[in-house]
Amino acid sequence: MYSSDDSTARAALAQPGTPEATLLQQIDHTQLPRHIAVIMDGNGRWAQSRKMPRVKGHRAGVESVRETVETCARLGIEYLTLYAFSVENWQRPRHEVWTLMNLIREFLRTEVASLKDNGIRLQILGRRDRLDASLMAEIDRAVQETAAGTRMTLSVALNYSGRCEIVDACRKIVSDWAAGESVEIDEETVGRYLYTAGQPDPDLLIRTSGEMRISNFLLWQLAYAEIWVTNTLWPDFRRRHLFAAIFEFQQRSRRFGLVTETLSEPSASEQGH
Ligand code: FPP
Repeated sequence: MYSSDDSTARAALAQPGTPEATLLQQIDHTQLPRHIAVIMDGNGRWAQSRKMPRVKGHRAGVESVRETVETCARLGIEYLTLYAFSVENWQRPRHEVWTLMNLIREFLRTEVASLKDNGIRLQILGRRDRLDASLMAEIDRAVQETAAGTRMTLSVALNYSGRCEIVDACRKIVSDWAAGESVEIDEETVGRYLYTAGQPDPDLLIRTSGEMRISNFLLWQLAYAEIWVTNTLWPDFRRRHLFAAIFEFQQRSRRFGLVTETLSEPSASEQGH
């Protein structure tokens, strides 16, 4: 179990004298991003460069998921959101889709106890349609079992599309309105109808494998996120990369559309460009 004492939890993240320890020391632990979102990309290329089938890359990527979850929880990140499977990913070869779903199932089976013990609450973002009923049942069980976790919320985007999420929110707003609810259409309301209702927007988006796209991920929520892209492929992503991303995030000047002189704790949703 990870220590609940902040400094002990952090100390467990790096052996003294290692490059990880140097990076960890550079991070200001009072200015951590509250919410980190990750586009885990490059599994296929990782496998192909080793003359292995693409699915081996996805399997290797699960270890990066495990390390990233543990590191974020020990550091004190409140929200971590991982893009595991998009609505578009159904168009991949059947065997690859099947393997990805099985990896999610395995992850739930092997990790739920640890998530629960460490106060990590699991949430799934995405449409429930098309997912296998038995997988949905396992997901619902895992979400329920970890619901009391207060240390960190781990959201896994599964059968997810940012555009679909906005469409679903619009449909729900209209149906609540038609049912007689008074619904004010503003940014706060739209936020409440998204899958991420109740969560702060991501402060930092990490994307691996060098691609400069957001690929239909959290289109509404990423409005003011700082974007950090690394050429490292997801299966090679380790905690030192996460430390480097957080350190660079802390060097950026977040202005939320204002100029530095007038900046005083703005609410991102109230600001311009
Ligand atoms: C993108 O790489 C990665 C994915 C579509 C799947 C990510 C899934 C995992 C890491 C494993 C399961 C997740 C959890 C949360 C247990 P790609 O295949 O598009 O890589 P490429 O661009 O090199 O082809």
